[in-house]
Amino acid sequence: MGKPAQPRVLLGVGGGIAAYKAAEIVRRLQDRGFRVQATLTAAAQRFITPLTFAALTQDKVVTELFEPGAAQPDSASAIEHIEVPLRADAFLVAPATADLLAKLAHGLADDFLTTAHLAYQGPLLVAPAMNVNMWNHPATQANLAVLRGRGVHVIEPDEGAMACGMYGPGRLAEPDAIAAEVERVLEAGRGPRDLEGLSVLITAGPTREPVDPVRYISNRSSGRMGFALAAEALRRGARVRIVRGPVALEPPAGAEAVAVETAAEMRQAVLERLPSSDLIIMAAAVADYRPRQVADRKIKKSDAALAIELEPTQDILAELGRLKGDRVLVGFAAETNDLEAHGLDKLRRKGCDFLVANPVGDAAAGAGMDSEENQGLLLGAAGERIELPREGKAAMARRIFDGVAPALARRKAHV
Ligand code: CTP
Repeated sequence: MGKPAQPRVLLGVGGGIAAYKAAEIVRRLQDRGFRVQATLTAAAQRFITPLTFAALTQDKVVTELFEPGAAQPDSASAIEHIEVPLRADAFLVAPATADLLAKLAHGLADDFLTTAHLAYQGPLLVAPAMNVNMWNHPATQANLAVLRGRGVHVIEPDEGAMACGMYGPGRLAEPDAIAAEVERVLEAGRGPRDLEGLSVLITAGPTREPVDPVRYISNRSSGRMGFALAAEALRRGARVRIVRGPVALEPPAGAEAVAVETAAEMRQAVLERLPSSDLIIMAAAVADYRPRQVADRKIKKSDAALAIELEPTQDILAELGRLKGDRVLVGFAAETNDLEAHGLDKLRRKGCDFLVANPVGDAAAGAGMDSEENQGLLLGAAGERIELPREGKAAMARRIFDGVAPALARRKAHV
């Protein structure tokens, strides 16, 4: 869409010993057909000079927010921190120091790199490199969580011997692996806009079923899968509404999100939006049971055993299966065993058009609920059977929509 044939990467170089590897990253990006422009922080220039990057990139290296001449309103450099990022198809910060990660997470803008970050709207990748203790520090990890929640691609550092003599995670990922990740992210950003004009309703996260005013029953769902599906539906041009249980993550920008707590609240929010939806995806981990009685006061501790009687919640997915008409309905299922057989059974029982069956427990080996990755099988009522290999949830969301889109197209052809 009006982008130059040769995609452009803005490379922001932070000030750490790994800054020297940024020159190699430029070469590896160029090997993959990218045009690179570099910006160096003041600290980066203590380790490596702008001249190196000017020679390698054959482009101007920006180092100052306020270059000489910036005060003149008609000078191009007065708005360079807007112009340069607007030209970029991807923004890669490598090496990203602990300080830079903190600045990016909090939106500071006190130099060219951090100001350009705020002006930039495309995919952002950060490749951290730092001492292992700095990497493990809760402040750094919290900043990374903020960035990930915002959709930033974090290229994990490698584990190994470091310049400081310590051993552990914190070493900048290999330049070629970093370049490959930039390529993967840009490839993923392309793709069909086959959901234009359609309205997609997605549930995400767990529900909370109260026991008393301070306690509840819930599950480990993080909302990541539902939010990844929402981001992908937005990218494909859909209007996206999310009904989400209590989660720490922020839903993707551009989606309308409504927050609920209990299965009953989720059911109501979903049913209200059913008539105006074309595709409904129940990615939420809805509680199957809730306490029959909710104590209106905090339950006091005693030496005796405490039994809480549970009653089933209403199965929203099954209800949607009865009410959906010609809308396309996608359910999720978590299975410890016989993934396909149980998945097919659930698909039919609940009247879904598709069901994403995920292995959980030992079979999942760390993927699935409350994890960055997922895997499974996409089963369709018309006999579709698509393997979903273990991968990040954004990639899996793409595969799910690739699998579901033909059914939506068929439906559109009918109406
Ligand atoms: N679901 C729902 N309403 C509920 C429970 C689950 O809509 N009260 C939806 C979930 O959003 C998900 C699917 O149903 O799309 C999961 O089905 P469920 O029967 O809960 O799966 P499991 O928990 O795996 O069930 P089972 O114990 O039958 O294996």
